[in-house]
Amino acid sequence: MGCEGDPTYLKVRVGTVGSTNEITRIGILTGGGDCPGLNAVIRAVSKTAMLRYGWEVWGIEDGFLGLIRNRMRRLEMGDVSNILTLGGTILGTSNKANPSHFAVGNDDDGKPIFKDVTNRVVEHIQERALDALVVIGGDGTMTGAARLMKHGIRCVGIPKTIDNDLVNTEMTFGFQTAVQTATDALDRIHTTASSHHRVMIVEMMGRNAGWLTLHAAMASGADVILIPEIQYDVEKVCECCVERSRRGKAFTIIAVSEGAKHRGGEQVVDRVVHDSPDPIRLGGVSEVLCNEIAKRTGLETRATILGHVQRGGTPCAADRVLATEFGLAAARLSAEGRLNRLVVLQSGHITDVAIEDVADQQRLVPLDHPLIQAARSIGNCMGD
Ligand code: F6P
Repeated sequence: MGCEGDPTYLKVRVGTVGSTNEITRIGILTGGGDCPGLNAVIRAVSKTAMLRYGWEVWGIEDGFLGLIRNRMRRLEMGDVSNILTLGGTILGTSNKANPSHFAVGNDDDGKPIFKDVTNRVVEHIQERALDALVVIGGDGTMTGAARLMKHGIRCVGIPKTIDNDLVNTEMTFGFQTAVQTATDALDRIHTTASSHHRVMIVEMMGRNAGWLTLHAAMASGADVILIPEIQYDVEKVCECCVERSRRGKAFTIIAVSEGAKHRGGEQVVDRVVHDSPDPIRLGGVSEVLCNEIAKRTGLETRATILGHVQRGGTPCAADRVLATEFGLAAARLSAEGRLNRLVVLQSGHITDVAIEDVADQQRLVPLDHPLIQAARSIGNCMGD
């Protein structure tokens, strides 16, 4: 805990471009899809802010939506105690509210009308006298934060997502829990696949990145691994299933990312969320594949879509630790006046990069990634 001799204790003087400001009050929000570990970060940031620096902490409800609608509440120690292991986010979140492109209603044809409401957001932040915002989210949330920064709002970012697809960080919190959840599901599918001698296809989230599928597939020993970064040939996948049954392996486990696509084809879209800044929701590739494999091979085939179960539940130990370290680092960056930075993990160490350096980008699995090489060397089919 801080003491008065500590230069960062209590009123911290921070320099901004052209001014010197004192942090006494921060806002904190969770944006985008939820993931395990959000509450662990909220707890770490808030406790550090209150205990070490003596700041007020304001919780912004439902991500950027709370800034647009001016829905914020002061967080006390009691609000952020006993939440380390809790899934979801006590603040709520939204993966639709983007201040620069916000759906304010519908036109006569029912299509959403979008407006830039950034000025309203800036007013709400100023009305509450928030000196800085701690923004916990993925690439969409960091893109939103980068736009607010252009209007003079000072932010510190913390990377979250089960997709693990943020550039400049080798890990986002939430990912390791999702890998464990997906691995548990694959393990369960394994036993029923073996009993019924079936081809079982398990579809995982991840948008355009195959990190979650690749890690869970390797952890559970799936036979076929299909990720968005490698277009698959359905004939190769069928050959693998048939070859396995010829060798007396009466079942095959196929782990497929929701963003995987067959050679020359398109991703399978589950729905279009018209009022979302990133409207495409992927899903259903496992069912397409299931029909195709059954038709071509005559093997009995089933598809399971893991869906939002991958985002739920209590964070695993590694995510609790990472979330706590990220939260502490974010509070420290604010205290040191090193604002508009994103906390990241690089070579196993917590460091930081400019928020602009991650906005509007996605980190995909490189084709020469050691796990892809490992999968190939143990005889897994990558669909190509
Ligand atoms: O980014 C996290 C994520 O779970 C993706 O893996 C998935 O494609 C998407 O969000 C699902 O979004 P929604 O919760 O809107 O269905």
